[in-house]
Amino acid sequence: MSQATNQSWGGRFSEPTDAFVARFTASVTFDQRLARQDIQGSIAHATMLARVGVLTDEERDTIINGLTEVQGEIERGEFNWSIPLEDVHMNIEARLTDKIGITGKKLHTGRSRNDQVATDIRLFMRDEIDVIEAELVRLREGMIELADREADTIMPGFTHLQTAQPVTFGHHLLAWQEMLTRDHERLLDCRKRVNVMPLGAAALAGTTYPIDRHVTAELLGFDRPAENSLDAVSDRDFAIEFTSFASILLMHLSRMSEELVLWTSAQFDFIDLPDRFCTGSSIMPQKKNPDVPELVRGKTGRVYGHLMALLTLMKSQPLAYNKDNQEDKEPLFDAVDTVRDCLKAFADMVPAIEPKKDSMYEAARRGFSTATDLADYLVRKGVAFRDAHEIVGQSVAYGLKTKKDLSEMTLEELQQFSATIEQDVFEVLTLEGSVAARNHIGGTAPDQVRAAASRAREALAALKGDA
Ligand code: ARG
Repeated sequence: MSQATNQSWGGRFSEPTDAFVARFTASVTFDQRLARQDIQGSIAHATMLARVGVLTDEERDTIINGLTEVQGEIERGEFNWSIPLEDVHMNIEARLTDKIGITGKKLHTGRSRNDQVATDIRLFMRDEIDVIEAELVRLREGMIELADREADTIMPGFTHLQTAQPVTFGHHLLAWQEMLTRDHERLLDCRKRVNVMPLGAAALAGTTYPIDRHVTAELLGFDRPAENSLDAVSDRDFAIEFTSFASILLMHLSRMSEELVLWTSAQFDFIDLPDRFCTGSSIMPQKKNPDVPELVRGKTGRVYGHLMALLTLMKSQPLAYNKDNQEDKEPLFDAVDTVRDCLKAFADMVPAIEPKKDSMYEAARRGFSTATDLADYLVRKGVAFRDAHEIVGQSVAYGLKTKKDLSEMTLEELQQFSATIEQDVFEVLTLEGSVAARNHIGGTAPDQVRAAASRAREALAALKGDA
């Protein structure tokens, strides 16, 4: 008589599973997180089986009532998860059978854990994507509002982290917002391929029962049943797509974080972050550290790691299901949690950014940020651009020596470098004149920033929940 520890598949075994192997192969410690989706999938499966006559209506109702009770036990923390029962699927099925007897054993008719687990993860990912989307929308809305408010605020724009040309703070924030627009589109695109139903593929080849996969797909809110049973049980592209989305998003958040960290430093002094987003130092009483953006920047690494883990997990896997696939869950769960928390942190923090306008303005005034405007001025007066570049270069060298910004030089001082320069030059040397002159779509002029913010608002409203 078989001594196998697992009653679900122990029939052909002649010795019990090694205790270490049972622990090593079990996934219940982490896949219990899929319990709600597992029960949701089972209820739909039982409903479909009754619809096609494989179960009686009475059996269906007994199963559904039993599963609902099991769900209650899990939610109340009363459920006893068992390692010998290996995973969430067999734990729930065994408990169901404890409660309702032989009918519980009929639930697994026409399915396998292979199509079951693939279905559970997709249901889980769909739920999580919707929560993540809501946080992303909240962040984007806050960012657009702040950009609109700060359309006139002047700061230095940088290339090579050297002062380049003045820009508006609103324009800078809308650059961040463009990154998030693309992330939002990628997330919704990923959701389309998540929302396809593997159930009915059974172990790999389909099933001999007269199942109706359209019924199950509709009950579960899937767009359609997966086309090919072999692919359905083995495909984890959607997990890789999600972690790709997550990696690119975190890369963007890390860039924003880096700027926030720089801007809160005494050296930049561009913004203040409210105390509730910062922490102090146990040794240096003066410190207020931007921990939230720093931590988001740091968490980018683990999400990249999960993308690599999943790509490598799937590399060279032969069709169809392989036990390797059990390893998809932990990276995916952690990526989901990390993305959700980082978005929440940003959605809370961004609207609370307090720009230090005077300090930003001063920084833009230093560093010859209107040098290009002087060159453009000379070109408008008929000087060739390369010659204008040289003239301005000499003016800057003079300014460095005399510690004067271009706008602080007298007309006579400027005329040393070109007789073409006249009194009207001072209009282009002001920061306000410089930003206002970049007045075309995509430019930094305050009017353009306000128009761009309103377009962003409309585009967001159109995209939101567009799944
Ligand atoms: N715990 C397994 C997983 O996560 C469920 C599917 C197991 N299937 C099997 N044939 N062993 O992938």
